[in-house]
Amino acid sequence: MTYEDHAYQGGLVPPPGCPAHRAGGGPAGGELLRLFGPEAEADPAGFYEKLRAEHGEVAPVLLHGDLPAWLVLGYSANLTAMRTPSRFSRDSRRWTEFQQGRVAPDSPVLPVIAWQPTCSFVDGEEHRRLRTAVTDGLNRFDRRGMRRFVTRFSDQLIAGFGDHGRVDLVSQFAEHLPMLVMTQLLGMPEEYGPRLVEAARDLVKGTETAVASNEYVVESLRRTVERKRSEPGQDLITWLIEHPSGLNEEEVLEHLRSVLLAANETTINLISETLKMVLTDSRFRAHLSGGQMTLPDALDQVLWDSPPFMLVPGRWATGDTELGGRAIKAGDMLLLGVAAGNADPAVRPDLDTPLFGNRSHLAFGSGPHECPGQEIGRAIAESGIDILLTRLPDLQLSVEEHELVWRGNWMSRHLTELPARFTPRSELHPQQRAASAVAGAGVAGGTGTGTGALVSTPSAAPGAPGAPGAPTAPGAQGATVPGPRSAVRPPLPPAPPVVPPQRRGWWSTLLARLRG
Ligand code: HEM
Repeated sequence: MTYEDHAYQGGLVPPPGCPAHRAGGGPAGGELLRLFGPEAEADPAGFYEKLRAEHGEVAPVLLHGDLPAWLVLGYSANLTAMRTPSRFSRDSRRWTEFQQGRVAPDSPVLPVIAWQPTCSFVDGEEHRRLRTAVTDGLNRFDRRGMRRFVTRFSDQLIAGFGDHGRVDLVSQFAEHLPMLVMTQLLGMPEEYGPRLVEAARDLVKGTETAVASNEYVVESLRRTVERKRSEPGQDLITWLIEHPSGLNEEEVLEHLRSVLLAANETTINLISETLKMVLTDSRFRAHLSGGQMTLPDALDQVLWDSPPFMLVPGRWATGDTELGGRAIKAGDMLLLGVAAGNADPAVRPDLDTPLFGNRSHLAFGSGPHECPGQEIGRAIAESGIDILLTRLPDLQLSVEEHELVWRGNWMSRHLTELPARFTPRSELHPQQRAASAVAGAGVAGGTGTGTGALVSTPSAAPGAPGAPGAPTAPGAQGATVPGPRSAVRPPLPPAPPVVPPQRRGWWSTLLARLRG
């Protein structure tokens, strides 16, 4: 047995025929770089530059389980991959590694790469059918209506810490706002918001209870979808159900789940990073107060320098082809290096030059799959930060910048905390403070004010799933919301249990889709 046979069987290097082997050698010493683990995750920007210096526009890398893939580093090569679906498909079932059974059933790449019946995983006519249903719905929200929602929830959150003089802007603001707004756009009962915030946080952190949290999200959506069938409203769930594209039940649910989670995760990152920049970067502080750089400009600078998705997995080659001088084989996987492309010296020779509203970054993708929710993500981030800075004008970082910590994975990285201080404000409306205290504690039960013009106040039909008296899942915990309005509100789905149920159910669903 040669060294290579031995190493392959022991999982050290990829099998013959993989992109890595065809790449003409790995970095110095012949060792291919892994896209996961301490080196890549501690300093992704440095890692990408190392790869760019070694390989140019497209680099061979290893994913978890040492699965081979191409990381697209060049700005122009990324655009080509994004805009040429005839060569680079979104259908993950084409991946050679799947077809040859080399992806372990518990691989951490599966939740994002395993094929799902959504617009993100299809091309051509089927993509148009599914995507139109989503975009037609999203386009019905206007910016002023969005701002009303964002103002209401931002004020609630600020009221929860306004008289303390201290706040962690990540855990007390950024991690709540997008989900609270998104549940309203979807037409979900307001009571679901705080628990969904907790479930989404748990999912992203990948803790033991992640599977249960995923089930909680799906169950909340399922119940709301069932109710919207008999009680339509002015909301995304109703518009998806009624759309002429004729989405089936699974397609409706899968789109809602992926929209809710993708919108939440990315917008949290955008808010956190922009707040960090506003509070730490003297250029922005000066520009913002001097009126030279607007908040939208600051958001774009962040979308260039710290895009919420550092990379997007992925695209799969439809046939043998070429990209950035590399021979790509049919079925190879490409990872779109959004952060690396944004920092490509070919388009940005000096990364310190401010971009003043230049929106040609890759943060929202490009081509047929370009993010259809970008205006909503921007509106939540921009209005939320604007309201925060208006209410707390002397907000400043309460630690040294070098003390800030990020946690990361192969796709994105997140600020863990953004501690800030400000002059306490006691004049906030007591009703707002009470509402926020409930939301901040992650306990179900909102004010039920429902003042947003875009969403009807939900109420469940007697006997309808999710209505009072409807059956709850076995083991449901703390399902109903006490309070004056609980009589007309649906009970919450069971809260995520502390100990996750069998993993098998979720994984086997994923695997079934893969095989299908
Ligand atoms: C700052 C916030 C956001 C960022 C940075 C972002 C980023 C992205 C990126 C890079 C893609 C393209 C993936 C690809 O090319 O394969 C994408 C797709 C998508 N995004 Fe966003 N997103 C954001 C917010 C949102 C929001 C708020 C929504 C919904 C309200 C949303 C819904 C979607 C959907 C449905 C797709 C799939 C489109 C398709 O495949 O045709 N996103 N997003």
